[in-house]
Amino acid sequence: MCGIIGIVSKEPFTSKEPLSRLKKLEYRGYDSWGYWNGKQLTKKMGKIVVYDDGTDVNLAICHTRWATHGGVTEWNAHPHRAGKVTIVHNGIIENYAELREELKKKGATFASETDSEVIAHLVEQGVNEKRGMETILKGLLATLKGTFATLIMVDGDDKLYAAKRDSPLALGICKSRMILASDIYAFSDATDKAIFFENDEYAVLTADSYAFFGADGQPIKKTPKTFAWTTVAESKDSYDHFMRKEIDEEPVVCQRLIVSLQGEQHDKFEQLVGLIRKAKKTVFTAAGTAYHASLLGASFLHQQGINAQAIIASEFENFITVDRETVVIAVSQSGETMDVIEAVKYSKEKGATIASIVNVPYSTIERMSSLSLQILAGPEVAVASTKAFTNQSTVMLALAQAFGYANGLEQLPEKLTETLQLEPKLERLAKELHHHRDLYVLGRKLGYPVSREIALKIKEISYIHAEGMMGGELKHGTIALIEEGTPVVSLVYDDDPKMRSSTQEVKARGAHAVVIGSTEHDELRVPAESEAEFAILASTVGQLFAYHLAKERGLPIDKPRNLAKSCTVL
Ligand code: AGP
Ligand code: GLU
Repeated sequence: MCGIIGIVSKEPFTSKEPLSRLKKLEYRGYDSWGYWNGKQLTKKMGKIVVYDDGTDVNLAICHTRWATHGGVTEWNAHPHRAGKVTIVHNGIIENYAELREELKKKGATFASETDSEVIAHLVEQGVNEKRGMETILKGLLATLKGTFATLIMVDGDDKLYAAKRDSPLALGICKSRMILASDIYAFSDATDKAIFFENDEYAVLTADSYAFFGADGQPIKKTPKTFAWTTVAESKDSYDHFMRKEIDEEPVVCQRLIVSLQGEQHDKFEQLVGLIRKAKKTVFTAAGTAYHASLLGASFLHQQGINAQAIIASEFENFITVDRETVVIAVSQSGETMDVIEAVKYSKEKGATIASIVNVPYSTIERMSSLSLQILAGPEVAVASTKAFTNQSTVMLALAQAFGYANGLEQLPEKLTETLQLEPKLERLAKELHHHRDLYVLGRKLGYPVSREIALKIKEISYIHAEGMMGGELKHGTIALIEEGTPVVSLVYDDDPKMRSSTQEVKARGAHAVVIGSTEHDELRVPAESEAEFAILASTVGQLFAYHLAKERGLPIDKPRNLAKSCTVL
């Protein structure tokens, strides 16, 4: 899920510019990184260090890695070089093993264990055989299997080359320079004009020109799009972590979304309601946190008599049948999650109508949909998704309302503010519980997706093993794991007797029971007047709890180990 940057410019620049742009892509992976400026190759482990090498150049590429093939080592970090050729790559080359063998037979020596390095050798082979770069790139599209956004530089050549299939790639067009990046956010301070690469396209770029070609080598005419993605300063302000700052933003971004759904996005929202009404079946598909918001959406609609389901994107084909009478709603913060893209592709092939609910504008998933709603959460920097989940769930609640579910959508921002006041209690609780190795979260009905979301948040940032599950399912096995002192968080809306019983059952076995509820006698009480409101507000409580558990454990909250914000590989 790496991030890539390439710059070709009339005015010279030093390492500082490409590396500060790369830093904005660090959410895509942060195992190791590297920089090539035509003169010097830098490869380093860990997070990107933006430094100024004082060397003026007009062409450079750089990369931040989330390893898929080959360990996290300095030599596996990109860029990779072969002879005069240097490349960076995001994606997975599926036929790399065969290609590697063939290339070795022809005398290539490999310096890394990555799949990506074959690209450098394939291009080098073409360069040595004096085939023109356009022919080489066309050949590359025909030879490579799998996914890629790749940038290529050749020693002594002042052009930058790029090719893409499935992994995202955008070209930012500035006055006298071109910037290639995995997302527009990396160059949105420099230009508001971008061209998005579509699959099986390659391009040849100079500082003031671009030429695009299709897999058949034919030129493709592309017109820049003007985008309006706000360049919010990437600053934590007075916060210790982006995650904490983003939780605090929830009331404001939720309010902004509600206003937009009633205003500028109203028509699109009504169209989505119309699609759901007309369809025989509504299927949400997503991964991770967005899947939990989707489960809420499916459950809300189901309560209103709509045939709705939520399916994890990576298992989509195995668990659902879709057809022309289905509306598939892809939910994704980044709009770039490869599992979701694959589920969308499959659904399109089956004739389903595609809608999406995304945060990052102009993303691949938005562009693949016939209709797309923006959740307007603004850039989410922390790997753990918080405000995006709240706004995804808010869209779900708005949909439920359109189908007759009476709820207090308008009051939600205010109630989120009130919920944040629980923080001191959660801080104390985290101090008490952060030493535990295992933790359970129980919920029923709308509380079930929330239990899974809270558990996911706890796992990813505090590294405590946490399981979110249906309260009723506990007795069918998991209860065997409850010991003296095991923390169990129960989500109890309006004194739900069944959830109270589940809580009693674990207490009877010595569990340290914690209740997030909605009544006066609940120590952790959220101001919910409906089950749906409870679900959203309890999630925010879970986010704060997870945050403080991780803080107590002294962990790198915004960039937890092994994760990346946007998973653009399968
Ligand atoms: C959220 O905290 C996670 N980091 C992760 O589960 C995320 O929600 C998932 O990868 C989906 O991402 P998306 O919303 O950008 O598609
Ligand atoms: N497959 C390449 C590697 O492991 C790129 C990884 C990615 O894009 O996430 O280096």
